[in-house]
Amino acid sequence: GHLPPGRDRYNSSSLAHRLPQCIIIGARKCGTRALIEFLKLHPQIISPNDEMHFFSNDTNYKLGFEWYRKKMPLSYPDQITIEKTPKYFISVISPSRIHRMNSSIKLIAILRHPTTRVISDYTQICANKQSKNETAEPFELRALDKQTGHINPVYKATQISMYHLHISRWLQLFPLNQLHIVDGDNLILNPLEEIRKIEQFLNLPHLVNPDSFYYNSTRGFYCMRKTKTGPEQCLGANKGRKHVNLSKKVITKLNKFFKPHNEQLYKLIGRRFPWR
Ligand code: A3P
Repeated sequence: GHLPPGRDRYNSSSLAHRLPQCIIIGARKCGTRALIEFLKLHPQIISPNDEMHFFSNDTNYKLGFEWYRKKMPLSYPDQITIEKTPKYFISVISPSRIHRMNSSIKLIAILRHPTTRVISDYTQICANKQSKNETAEPFELRALDKQTGHINPVYKATQISMYHLHISRWLQLFPLNQLHIVDGDNLILNPLEEIRKIEQFLNLPHLVNPDSFYYNSTRGFYCMRKTKTGPEQCLGANKGRKHVNLSKKVITKLNKFFKPHNEQLYKLIGRRFPWR
């Protein structure tokens, strides 16, 4: 007959380091940390604490799949191992390497309003500079063409937010039904809704408890409480920073610039986002 679900959990010999069956590929500054932390509330999801940078980094990749596998936490057979490395999203070499490891792997990309992502990215760059007692170049100098004042399409932060450029590379190798896209703006407002969609995508029972989330008005974000009486756990202070102030004019330019790129994304994935 059938073993009851979770039966293997009583048998520590079934514990093993397993290759991830699902990878969060990015994108940077779209809520990747919040996403993985929230997913870990599910008893059947397990994840390494650090970003692996395995497929995107040649030195790491040369160490091989066995090296990578041993980096994964111990898991039971009924658990899904997930790793997240936001760099994979833009890394040209990563899709084929991941495909070579497991062509039926499930991929998760989290996206948010492209302009918000650019501002979040620049805010992080400013904070990193500040911690080294340096100052970042003014946003306009990086993001705008000096001659024309138009959006500079090769600015890295802008490049990352042209989501269709990257998604199209993944879809050259993986079918659309293997790629789940999380609405990063909605993850902020309604984390449970986005998590439940992922439980479905991963064929997992809905086991993330609504009571695990509570809104922290000081932070302005949802935090976690893993047990009823347990401590509140918010993400680090580097998540949910106050964004740098940019002029209305430059924000309007960014929004206009991204519009056709957003449309290309919607076409590619057969789904629209309410980005204006
Ligand atoms: P900001 O700091 O610009 O607000 P990543 O982890 O990929 O670097 O993404 C960081 C972003 O996650 C933050 O960007 C924040 O908006 C978003 N985020 C989503 N849910 C969050 C939460 N519950 N707590 C903190 N940040 C959250």
